[in-house]
Amino acid sequence: MPPRQLTPRRLVLNAERRFRRARLVYGHGTDNARDEAVFLVFHALDLPFNVDDATLDTAVDAARAAAVEALVQARIDTRRPAAYLTGRMWFVGHEFLVNEHVLVPRSPIGELIRARFEPWVEATRVRRVLDVGTGSGCIAIAAALALPDCIVDATDISEEALAVARANAARLGVADRVQFHLADIFPPPGDPYDLILANPPYVPQAEYDELPDEYLREPAGALVAGADGLDVVRRLLAGLPPRLGADGVLVMDTGATSDALAAAFPRLPFTWVELEHGGDGISVLKRSELVFD
Ligand SMILES: C[S@@+](CC[C@H](N)C(=O)[O-])C[C@H]1O[C@@H](n2cnc3c(N)ncnc32)[C@H](O)[C@@H]1O
Repeated sequence: MPPRQLTPRRLVLNAERRFRRARLVYGHGTDNARDEAVFLVFHALDLPFNVDDATLDTAVDAARAAAVEALVQARIDTRRPAAYLTGRMWFVGHEFLVNEHVLVPRSPIGELIRARFEPWVEATRVRRVLDVGTGSGCIAIAAALALPDCIVDATDISEEALAVARANAARLGVADRVQFHLADIFPPPGDPYDLILANPPYVPQAEYDELPDEYLREPAGALVAGADGLDVVRRLLAGLPPRLGADGVLVMDTGATSDALAAAFPRLPFTWVELEHGGDGISVLKRSELVFD
């Protein structure tokens, strides 16, 4: 019997089966074996995600098939998130460069960016934005693209991450409006911000120690924040008052540590955002609601 022709459809099915058998863990842009297989196979074959059905059944040549095989096997052998293998990830409809110095973009803050942060702010009045812990720059850059009249400051303590963020800002055409700072939480003092965005590290150390391999391939400094996960958030909140304008708003992603956050700051009336596309842990806090004992 002649060997069965390799097609994109067969390569995806094969990768999916092997991913299941290898018990990979997802959560870096996909949440199941099929989508992970599509992400990697389509990347190796240069196919768009909206490819037509007929293309899925055309023959793939040996060189392309070998490229697919290399990616699929690397995903299984190294447990690296797929985005580190392709060097790319999509966020709010934009393609970002990523490497192992940055978190793989996935914050549900993306949904608020798509809505231009309404109803939490009046989008046309936002002029100054700060993104704390910018990583790949995904939130800062997507916010700059969604709000074309604003300027954005973005901080990170990782120089390697800032190099990736700067490259992304240049690629996406906002380098003139997004300024990156190597800084601990806040950039040097300046005018207050209308909007402060943060997806800070928030994983408690003991939880981090139990995470699957895929998460341990990301920079520890992007995830872990002390015993209760609140080390960075606590300092962010303490330094917030002078940095937020009178009508300013803080939008923060604290994921699974949100209950601990609410318990640690019982007097802060966080509004927890209900997201249409799933995910939780996004809070909104107005400058006028900042009350500390
Ligand atoms: C959870 S990642 C978020 C990255 C990016 N904003 C995103 O959503 O994909 C947290 C980022 O905060 C940075 N970071 C950690 N501690 C920081 C601090 N004290 N000040 C500024 N950035 C910090 C890490 O280097 C990492 O890039």
